[in-house]
Amino acid sequence: MNKKIIVANWKSNKTESEAIEWFKEFLVSLNRSTDQSAIKDKEIVICLPFTLLPVAKKFITENSLLIKLGSQDISPFDEGAYTGEVDGRQIKEFADYVIIGHSERRKNFSENDEILQKKIEMAKKYGLTSIFCVQSENDFIPNDANIIVYEPVFAIGTGNVDNPENIQKVLSGINQKTGKGLLLYGGSVDENNIKKLSEVSMVSGFLVGTASLDPKSFFNLLSKC
Ligand code: PGA
Repeated sequence: MNKKIIVANWKSNKTESEAIEWFKEFLVSLNRSTDQSAIKDKEIVICLPFTLLPVAKKFITENSLLIKLGSQDISPFDEGAYTGEVDGRQIKEFADYVIIGHSERRKNFSENDEILQKKIEMAKKYGLTSIFCVQSENDFIPNDANIIVYEPVFAIGTGNVDNPENIQKVLSGINQKTGKGLLLYGGSVDENNIKKLSEVSMVSGFLVGTASLDPKSFFNLLSKC
């Protein structure tokens, strides 16, 4: 059986102390649960702001927590004179995954297909598993992208989750076009709708924004899929 992949996207949220509090509370929930079903058979990836990666890695290591870390962006360049950028080699010190092509980056930071292609190449070069976000099966999908997320803008942060039939249709289209099998859905996934969304046969997992910011909500969500 393939593991379900659940990716938390914290976006631009939380300070160091808030992040530690989140991990502590998550651990309490986990230790309270008898069967560990929240994390069993799942690949759980928390994508944090760069500033929080070191402290999260320390907490995870010290507590032997079965959680992986990811970043929410990567420089399209190698190390060097690129003010403000964080490159793949730096990210790999702390993380195994990277989100690329999120609609918020495309919109607010003018990321186009050419830049996204370069970012995918950098992720590959440094052994980071890329989580590539698209709006539809017609979007550009780089050959080397590892995990593809269908995340329609209308569903992001709105509570308007896409319907299971359409999710199945879009993911099938992506699968036919690219041959890729690790396909996620993202957009207003929460503890109340994840069970139903998990029944969509093409879905290998989820990208979760808002519902991942509260450790209890996130833990409940994990327990239901
Ligand atoms: P949301 O965000 O779960 O708050 O809709 C998802 C995302 O943008 O990754």
